Amino acid sequence: MNKRLTVKDIRKRKLLNDKQEPLVALVCYTAQMARLINDQVDIILVGDSLGMTIYGYKNTLSVTLDMMMNHGAAVVRSTTKPHIVVDMPFGSYEESPEKAFRSASKIMRKTGAQSVKLEGGEEFAETIYFLNQRGIPVMGHIGLMPQRIQTLGGFFTQGKTEKESIKLMNDAKAISDAGAFSMVVEAIPEELATNITKNIKVPTIGIGGGRNCDGQILVIHDILNLYGDFTPKFVKKYGKINDSITKAVSKYSQEVKNKKFPTKNNIFSIKK
Ligand code: KIV
Repeated sequence: MNKRLTVKDIRKRKLLNDKQEPLVALVCYTAQMARLINDQVDIILVGDSLGMTIYGYKNTLSVTLDMMMNHGAAVVRSTTKPHIVVDMPFGSYEESPEKAFRSASKIMRKTGAQSVKLEGGEEFAETIYFLNQRGIPVMGHIGLMPQRIQTLGGFFTQGKTEKESIKLMNDAKAISDAGAFSMVVEAIPEELATNITKNIKVPTIGIGGGRNCDGQILVIHDILNLYGDFTPKFVKKYGKINDSITKAVSKYSQEVKNKKFPTKNNIFSIKK
């Protein structure tokens, strides 16, 4: 049986030279998808973007701990190899390190995941330290933080001004020093992501962070064209599963209407 990638293995994947392979991560939420990608990725993040891709909300703010735990457990049950990270949903950790510990320990216990992820910079260094010291590895998430949609006013690229980029560099250093074992850097200029990657000890995993991060992450629904009409610039589509689904269902519908399905091969008969 394959051994899952541990936090220690991931820390070692800091790209120190061009010969090392970047970490391959995908956001994925369901048993059947997780089974399909088990052998192809180093890390699966059960992301709270499931609020939008699976549940049809406009943003991630309505996602609950129960939703994350149900999907996290399904992904853990269906995989053997990748490291599984489960997102901490909005409202489950911001209040205090103690509240974060209660939520994160519930996630770890009920899902069997290896770590959790939370959004935030310097202001969450204390929480990350608190969790890490008590046995809960934390992946950080800086740059565009979708849980801050209402204060940001939209899903915009972050760190474009000198002031913002200095703040993001400080955030990255603070959460790395607090014990985050890696961090997602979302929607920031490539130069800034490169600079952060060079200046912190743990791997950066980019989503719209350019070419020099220690790893890359995208959402499986985005790369398969299974979600929405808008495609962010940082997404590359590797398949058009939506077209295959529509075609297959349309054929099924026609065959039912024309009484071409079921056929002799699809029916049961009484034994003579
Ligand atoms: O929930 C999610 O999909 C994420 C990715 C954007 C990294 O956090």
